[in-house]
Amino acid sequence: FKRKIQIMTWFPERRRPTWLQRLCEAILKSGPVPQHVAIIMDGNRRFAVKNSLEKCEGHVRGFDKLAETLEWCLDLGITEVTVYAFSIENFKRSPDEVNGLMELSRQKFAKLLEERNLIQEHQVCVRIIGDISLLPRDLQELLAEAVSISANNKRAVLNVCFAYTARDDMCNAMRELSSGVKDGFIRESDISENLLEKCLYTSHSRSVDLLIRTSGEVRLSDFLLWESAYTCLAFVKVLWPEFSIWHLYAAILHYQRNYNKIQIARQNLMIERERLQRESDHRCMLEEETEACSKLEIIPPGKVSIPTTHSIITQNKNVQALVQQYAEARTERENVFLAHVYTKRADFIKSLLPKHP
Ligand code: FPP
Ligand code: MG
Repeated sequence: FKRKIQIMTWFPERRRPTWLQRLCEAILKSGPVPQHVAIIMDGNRRFAVKNSLEKCEGHVRGFDKLAETLEWCLDLGITEVTVYAFSIENFKRSPDEVNGLMELSRQKFAKLLEERNLIQEHQVCVRIIGDISLLPRDLQELLAEAVSISANNKRAVLNVCFAYTARDDMCNAMRELSSGVKDGFIRESDISENLLEKCLYTSHSRSVDLLIRTSGEVRLSDFLLWESAYTCLAFVKVLWPEFSIWHLYAAILHYQRNYNKIQIARQNLMIERERLQRESDHRCMLEEETEACSKLEIIPPGKVSIPTTHSIITQNKNVQALVQQYAEARTERENVFLAHVYTKRADFIKSLLPKHP
């Protein structure tokens, strides 16, 4: 079993595409291709049972399918792929299976480090999404090294969700925001969807366009719950190790059929967010001004006592400028806070890297 794992690579020998594949690819590429695809690779154990294999062998086949799928995605021009490799819930599986999955991951990431020239050649940046402090220390170190050696690669991104659930990610983001307020980086009123999103592990990712789940299950199982609010969902009735390029083409076609509606929904979301932010900035600026003016016993802008056309126009201009000024100060607070959060995360990864004297 161990020997078999070792031979398998992240960059399998590529088979020449058939003319039919080339044709389908060309047709799909003439439409909008999802830039970010997320995958719940479900059905490995059922595949093992169906084929009289050990459970762990099902996961090994699952990994091979992942390596193959990444090549298909690169060929199609998909620039970001996020996969659910290990959920926090998976720790509840039998110790044998958990250890098997940890060992598989150790082998695969060690292999990835061995193949570092290939990862540079393909220009793939590997990111780990999740609370890796829950993993064995040696695996944390391997993951950190994979992240570190590939950090500057620009062609594509592979996000591996490891020790991850979406709700844990959101709780963690809320804790970051709460400490940000407590430590004086941000104010409570600065907390918005936009800022919370930037505290998630996926903060550096583009929005998820297409989410595929194999095995016929039709639920999200705590995967990318925040990020998939405006994502096209494709539930495929095939076990993950049986997933083929044709299933991928079909999922992309499904995405293309729903593309316009998804874009409209996303645009509306952005407009609504901007409106809410403007309103919040306006409200906060007024509160700030009212407080400042009450100390000096003068009438705050926006609260005109004798409304004349001239005074309203002047006041409005004044108010707009003050809102703008407030928004700039808020953005500055947010940027300093986020830089602090990201530095903390980068320092954690650095602390796991081998120390060079
Ligand atoms: C779900 O199938 C699959 C997993 C919990 C593990 C997925 C992991 C891999 C494919 C390997 C990835 C490894 C690396 C290094 C990225 P299941 O176990 O729930 O199967 P079932 O639904 O048939 O029970
Ligand atoms: Mg399952």
